[in-house]
Amino acid sequence: MNKEKSITSIVGAGLLALAAAVGVPAPAAAADGAALLAANCLSCHSALGSTISRVEGQRKSPEGWQMTITRMQEQHGAKISPQDKRALIKYLADTRGLAPTEAAPWRYLLEHDNNRVEALDDTYKDMCARCHSGARFALQRRSEGEWSLLMHSHIGLNPTLEFHSLARDRAWFQHAVGEIAPALARDFALDAKAWTAWQAAPRVTLAGSWRITGYLPGKGEFEGRMTASAAGEDRFELRLEGRYADGGALAGSGVATVYTGYEWRGSVDIDGVALRQVLAADARATTMKGRQHLAASRRVGGELVAVRESAAPRLVAVMPGHLRRGETAELTLVGSGLDGAVSLGSGVRVLEVVARSADRVVVRARAEGGDGLRDVAVGAARGKGLLAVYERVARVDVEPANAIARVGGPGDAQMEKVGVAYRALGWAAGRDGKAGTADDLRLGYLPVQWSIEAADEEAEKARDQDFVGRIGADGVFVPGDAGPNPARPKSLGNTGRVKVVAAVGEAGERVEGRGSLDVAVPDFVQRALD
Ligand code: HEC
Ligand code: HEC
Repeated sequence: MNKEKSITSIVGAGLLALAAAVGVPAPAAAADGAALLAANCLSCHSALGSTISRVEGQRKSPEGWQMTITRMQEQHGAKISPQDKRALIKYLADTRGLAPTEAAPWRYLLEHDNNRVEALDDTYKDMCARCHSGARFALQRRSEGEWSLLMHSHIGLNPTLEFHSLARDRAWFQHAVGEIAPALARDFALDAKAWTAWQAAPRVTLAGSWRITGYLPGKGEFEGRMTASAAGEDRFELRLEGRYADGGALAGSGVATVYTGYEWRGSVDIDGVALRQVLAADARATTMKGRQHLAASRRVGGELVAVRESAAPRLVAVMPGHLRRGETAELTLVGSGLDGAVSLGSGVRVLEVVARSADRVVVRARAEGGDGLRDVAVGAARGKGLLAVYERVARVDVEPANAIARVGGPGDAQMEKVGVAYRALGWAAGRDGKAGTADDLRLGYLPVQWSIEAADEEAEKARDQDFVGRIGADGVFVPGDAGPNPARPKSLGNTGRVKVVAAVGEAGERVEGRGSLDVAVPDFVQRALD
């Protein structure tokens, strides 16, 4: 078999498992879980009461369980039907999952928002977080025995591990079993109050009507309403409707499954684009927060926030959330049950109500007064600090600050290009008049001009900026084609190192921000979690 093809098909299988739930009957009820474990796993594992060996000492995210079962299939030849696999992931995540507070610091990995430098204890950096992310294990809880067995399976399944750099300089396996496994058992312990409490907490259904706001690369900010109707245990049918910031209509539909009582995984089609939602509900199920990304390219996505609608009027956002002193601009106040007088806080005058409904009020406004956040109100609905008034943009942060893109293609038969969706976060200097200090005023995301430049002298010599790809006016970086480029040394192809530059303001007042971008070779082994 052609090597590249077989690798691509593995990637496909990994990515599809949780997502391809569209149109599939609801997973079997939790009571069937033990029976499914017995039917699918006992050919190799031994029975332990109502569960099986190895499963008992572990807890992890739905994607974590998906990865384990995928490994059973790929590396050990387990035969498991797609329906059983889906039901097993649900059962295992519900009964051996993570409490919301345990998953919270590491959600970026579940959201596939991986372009960041991880904050990890030094103990784990060289030993564990160089082949895969640190969040991969931080999103698991195990007994010491199970952490230790994981070290055994690492050396057993990847015997060349000991010859890698950062492994051949030490007794890797001895250190992993002797020091790392006990450390993991302390830092990521199987038994935790948070999990016991979460299991005992009453479950609140996520069915209902949600006011949503978010960002889609290439489309921009949007706001709307997502209606979730119950369609089986922890299954929902979704309808979405709303507007993009440019006034264009947004419409979509899809399905969602909720794992562990709060892990929302949606599969939606919005205006012809297949998207995935990875959200976490708060304990009272009044807000869900996370990310929505392209089904075809999980790195390309943006934030998604859903606020539950109730009888009480509610203001959730002002779009855009900033207004420059002395300027007149149109602002959209987003919420539900919006009725009554509009107030934009001290010094901000509403010149005209351009349009209004219970869901959104469009006003023309003009700001005076000092830099700072203003509280906004429409009748009884209030939003604290929803509007930033400022005089000058003093600083621009490029997000993500550090990113990896991957060349791909050309054509469909090859590895897909992995791009990066950029946004620029603006700040005013704050009281001390200095940019980059703790009192800077966050203005929110700004429209900017995007460009790329060589990362350093060496990259300049190789003219990396001319080959690695292009960044569009919408901030989406699309890398170049994979394979050799006759115009460059063979080993380089279209890879390289660049800075992504975001610029605001005219000459004289121009402010720039920079992010580092490595355009690398394709990643042939893509997993449910990196
Ligand atoms: C064909 C044999 C086979 C089948 C069937 C099988 N497993 Fe495994 N399983 C193994 C082997 C071998 C290991 C130890 C090596 C490893 O971790 O990959 C293992 C390890 C595990 C581990 C520990 C992994 C870790 O990260 O430490 C878990 C959990 C697990 N299996 C769950 C399951 C579940 C759930 C099923 C049924 C859906 C299943 N297995 C079916 C062979 C199998
Ligand atoms: C040589 C590269 C390498 C190193 C070093 C490494 N891992 Fe892994 N790890 C892997 C691979 C490969 C997999 C299997 C991915 C798959 O196919 O599912 C894996 C899987 C895992 C999993 C998921 C297993 C499951 O089924 O739940 C965890 C957790 C994990 N590693 C933790 C660690 C820890 C902790 C360390 C440090 C002691 C470590 N890894 C070091 C390569 C590595």
